[in-house]
Amino acid sequence: LKRKKISVIGAGFTGATAAFLAAQKELGDVVLVDIPQSENPTKGKALDMWEAAPVQGFDAHVKGTSDYTDTADSDLVIITAGVARKPGMSRDDLVQINQKVMKSVASEIAKHSSNATILVLTNPVDAMTYTVFKETGFPKSRVIGQSGVLDTARFCAFVAEELNISVKDIRGFVLGGHGDTMVPLTRYSYAGGIPLETLIAPERLEEIVQRTRVGGGEIVNLLGNGSAYYAPAAALIEMAEAIIKDQKRVLPSIAYLEGEYGYNGIYLGVPTLLGANGIEKIFELELTEKEKVALDVSAEAVREVMRILD
Ligand code: APR
Repeated sequence: LKRKKISVIGAGFTGATAAFLAAQKELGDVVLVDIPQSENPTKGKALDMWEAAPVQGFDAHVKGTSDYTDTADSDLVIITAGVARKPGMSRDDLVQINQKVMKSVASEIAKHSSNATILVLTNPVDAMTYTVFKETGFPKSRVIGQSGVLDTARFCAFVAEELNISVKDIRGFVLGGHGDTMVPLTRYSYAGGIPLETLIAPERLEEIVQRTRVGGGEIVNLLGNGSAYYAPAAALIEMAEAIIKDQKRVLPSIAYLEGEYGYNGIYLGVPTLLGANGIEKIFELELTEKEKVALDVSAEAVREVMRILD
């Protein structure tokens, strides 16, 4: 049996963190990829991680490169490449720049790892996942975006703090787009099986939901220069582990919808079954009127960004 191979495209804050987590968890050998202009720093980061292996005792090699032949036959590819929005840059500019990055990365993946499953993190993530889906021509089950695992993690972290209960016992549930337009399903959220709605007053729960919605912005403001990367990387690795170990986890993914929830031809955050075949199932839930309206707003926000795409 061969060891699994994971390529992480984009060796910035999130990519490097995800690569290190993947190695520490021994999900497979890791190839960290960035543009030729950043080849030396990428090699340096990878070598630095590999030199931690004897200390931490992980059997996973880490290599840095700008050459996609090194990624050949990857089982999983994680895409964090791109630029973050800078002051003065319009959203349209960002979409167009990152779309170009996604197209070039996707064509390299399709060329060198035609059987890979792809996890996309680059923002705006719904539209970027769609771009990778179109460009690779891979089946929809193997092109997946990350947002709900992170949004849920943020929600659970805030709830755990609020209740002084272990994060292990908190379960949250988020549908829809990333951040601002996420649709939290608090009626499916629990602490040790006890519905959160019986433990936290409605107004307070709404405050926690609102903090979750703007959770990305809270980090951006605190960092002052850059966006969140520890929790985003951890979220990616939870999804990666589910796929690599065929765990059959029920996790929110950004999935391509063809009729589910009444939407067609868009990527949107929905509950999925994640296993060796990528998205193995999309769970369709009965939504309340209010939840459906919120999900429509999310879907429309995704379509608005998709209209900017070439
Ligand atoms: N191929 C490979 N790597 C690329 C390419 C490309 N075509 N274009 C840019 N990159 C690399 C950059 O050189 C940089 O090292 O992507 C990396 C991005 O890293 P950071 O700027 O540190 O950004 P990060 O904070 O990791 O966020 C990455 O994730 O959460 C999202 O919104 C965030 O879209 C952003 C992405």
